[in-house]
Amino acid sequence: MADILQIQRPATGAAADLAITEATIRATELRQFDIDGEPLATYDPGFMNTAVCHSSITYIDGEAGVLEYRGYPIDELAEHSTYLEVAYLLLNGELPNPTQLAEWESLITTHRMIPDKLKTVLAGFPYDAHPMTILMASTAAFFSFYPDARNFTDPEARALNIARLIAKMPTLAAFAYRKGKAKPYINPDDNYGYCHNFLAMLFKQAERRYSADPRLIRAMEVLFILHADHEQNCSTNAVRSVASSGNDLYTCASAGIGALHGPLHGGANEAVLKMLREIGTVDRVPEFIEGVKSGRTRMMGFGHRVYKNYDPRAKIIKRSVEDVFEVTGVNPLLEVAKELEKYGLEDEYFVKRRLYPNVDFYSGLIYEALGFPPEMFTVLFAVPRTSGWCAQYQEFITDPDNKIARPKQIYTGHRTRGYVPMEERG
Ligand code: ACO
Repeated sequence: MADILQIQRPATGAAADLAITEATIRATELRQFDIDGEPLATYDPGFMNTAVCHSSITYIDGEAGVLEYRGYPIDELAEHSTYLEVAYLLLNGELPNPTQLAEWESLITTHRMIPDKLKTVLAGFPYDAHPMTILMASTAAFFSFYPDARNFTDPEARALNIARLIAKMPTLAAFAYRKGKAKPYINPDDNYGYCHNFLAMLFKQAERRYSADPRLIRAMEVLFILHADHEQNCSTNAVRSVASSGNDLYTCASAGIGALHGPLHGGANEAVLKMLREIGTVDRVPEFIEGVKSGRTRMMGFGHRVYKNYDPRAKIIKRSVEDVFEVTGVNPLLEVAKELEKYGLEDEYFVKRRLYPNVDFYSGLIYEALGFPPEMFTVLFAVPRTSGWCAQYQEFITDPDNKIARPKQIYTGHRTRGYVPMEERG
């Protein structure tokens, strides 16, 4: 028997059987109910309970704290893979074999340089510009250099621009960082892998060759893997939404960067560090917790729209913290973070609301230990998330169900009224 939802409106006697498929009903079927001349709709600010697409990229079970890319558990990928392998997986649905991986790595290496003229765009930003604004504007500017990105329905052109964007993002991020430090740009080094090269472009000084500690390179790979995709989050939704009006990849990624910048999304790790600094010492944690409970402030890095359990990424990052601190020395704010977490996991306020540490709670501590200023933290999220945005963009473009994003509203303003001339306005 077909699974249906029976809906009745006793006031009018109207009734309908709505088909249930994939644990959803089709929202447009509600329109058959006429409510005083308006078709029935749902009201769902923030898409709390609305599926906007089919996707086979990332699976999350927020209740159980499960995250999988293309079916592979995140902890196995973090343990065994490199970021570029994971990017390939997100884009192609399968892990690469050795030949495919070598070709993919070589393609990315080929496209790492950014156009020379883009450096003049970078030069135009104030010296203290937030690197996320530089990243956002420069990513959008890529479209002027690669106008073939408008041929996004052509699989070859699309694949080329995806490779370009994933390859160039670390270069752009490193240049934005060095601009803020008034240091000369360091061009990509073809002899280094994705993460090692990124570290070199960021931190190379006068030495002939920069060589990063392998534990730091691995920590970077792990952080990048954990941040690569997270299904229909705010920035991915921005990417898909901007793609829906027929935009190129660069414009869409730029919109994603803008969405990610907000402190309730990718900007949270920057906010976590600020919060830890303000608290300062372990003995001040109880006072801070009281402030959270009375609604004066939020505990940044805690809570998640989807996870009502420990964010699996936070567990893995917590392990990486120890590895990084072995190389860099311990950040004293770690003790403050651990104390906050202890309260968060035991105090009734957090337990009742099912608020757990999210991916941003510990990542800021690692970034700071690596020598990044807080304004770079979200940039370090945007670089790896680019592969997720690309995979989601590609999935959207090739989805026969795709439509221009255009939500409804409930209008609460005036209806038609007479124009008031200037002299009659109070
Ligand atoms: N600290 C204190 N209270 C919180 C927190 C928090 N971090 N997060 C949620 N709450 C409380 C809310 O006040 C609300 O309480 P109430 O029911 O008494 O009004 C309840 O928990 C539900 O919170 P909502 O804001 O409705 O949950 P929503 O799903 O809309 O928000 C969000 C999720 C934005 C992540 C929220 O938990 C938050 O602001 N967290 C801090 C910012 C943060 O860490 N963001 C990073 C998210 S991960 C990422 O984007 C990569």
